[in-house]
Amino acid sequence: MNYKEALKKLEACGQTQLLRFYDTLSEEEKKELLGEIEALDTSFLSLIDRPDEAVSKDDVVEPLNALTIPEIEARRAEFEEIGLKAVREGKTGAVLLAGGQGTRLGFDHPKGMYDVGLTKPRYIFQCLFENLKAVTDRAGAYIPLYVMTSKINHDETVAFLKEHAFFGYPGAYVRFFVQDMAPCTDLAGRILLSAPGHIAQSPNGNGGWYHSMKKAGLDEDLKARGVEYLSAFAVDNVLQRINDLAFLGAVIESDADVGAKVVSKVSPTERVGVLCKKNGHPSIVEYYEMTDDMIRLRDEKGDLLYRYGVILNYLFKVSKLDEAVSKRMPVHMAEKKIPYVDEQGRFVKPETPNGYKFELLILDMIQLMDTSLPYEVDREKEFAPVKNATGTDSVESARALLQKNGVVL
Ligand code: UTP
Repeated sequence: MNYKEALKKLEACGQTQLLRFYDTLSEEEKKELLGEIEALDTSFLSLIDRPDEAVSKDDVVEPLNALTIPEIEARRAEFEEIGLKAVREGKTGAVLLAGGQGTRLGFDHPKGMYDVGLTKPRYIFQCLFENLKAVTDRAGAYIPLYVMTSKINHDETVAFLKEHAFFGYPGAYVRFFVQDMAPCTDLAGRILLSAPGHIAQSPNGNGGWYHSMKKAGLDEDLKARGVEYLSAFAVDNVLQRINDLAFLGAVIESDADVGAKVVSKVSPTERVGVLCKKNGHPSIVEYYEMTDDMIRLRDEKGDLLYRYGVILNYLFKVSKLDEAVSKRMPVHMAEKKIPYVDEQGRFVKPETPNGYKFELLILDMIQLMDTSLPYEVDREKEFAPVKNATGTDSVESARALLQKNGVVL
């Protein structure tokens, strides 16, 4: 793209401020900026002044039953047999979503590098790799693991995992890909510059992972290996079970398009997205989108009607991901503190939120599926997210749960 074309594109969406410092840039910097403008997706700008999509009056929302823990236990041997066969036949893969910025934790490195150990190092990545290895040791076959990073944390993540020899997992089964970025705007919707020759951008959320994976050509890798089921999971749950045999088996046996691990909510107002049915499709309604009825209604046994919260651990049919990848997903916007260069070219690090970041969310992928299997797990055994330094979902609570599960820290 040349200068004239860039100007035309920016005039069309009212963003010509991005070329404000163009004349002061070196030839190399000019080329980079024009490249960024060429790649710029401005379709989300229409979102500003309009809230996120919530449950609307016209939506038909119904509760969804899960395969419960007692039901799973009663059929564990059968499910594990199916899961074992799938792993041994190379039909499963796993995607570690590690492109987030972990701002709440306030740790200046990729979140997986966080050491939750007390007497010896125990990194979050280590917890995950060892949990996956427990499955592959039992099956006697490895599962390809695809690690999604972002432009911001890629090099550090790769170097760290290589330095630690993937915590005993064979490197030949680990592939990396970098997620896409989305531009950031000020509160009036003007895209910001992070430097005179660079657009301010942030990782585009965890919902674009399959798109980014395809862009990196890894769909070909899935095909070559014959992977039919792909799990996707968060980096920050230190008790995360990955492709565990009973989960694989139950989802495969059900023939659902997606399996989702869920936990029973501890209270009606717990801040967790709930898996339900919306307009005939499986769907996750975020806690802030729930109506009063959805929060409070109980069934005849006294259990919450909408009680199954998701823990960001899914198993998708690859064929369904291929169908869904071209469908539009809602973009979510959040007010954040975004460093930028002002009109005089001075770098500013704001103390309060000054703009918006835009994200696609994996929970919106569920609606693109036709059928789902909510699969209940015991939160004390499988859910210990590290989101904050202290308090709820923190390093402290995760350590306590690891110890409760017999992990020596
Ligand atoms: P969170 O929603 O907790 O976001 O991510 P975060 O960026 O890690 O943390 P905060 O909100 O800034 O404190 C849930 C999962 O999705 C991944 C994260 O790495 C984590 O595994 N994620 C999030 C991505 O892979 N990419 C993103 O752009 C955002």
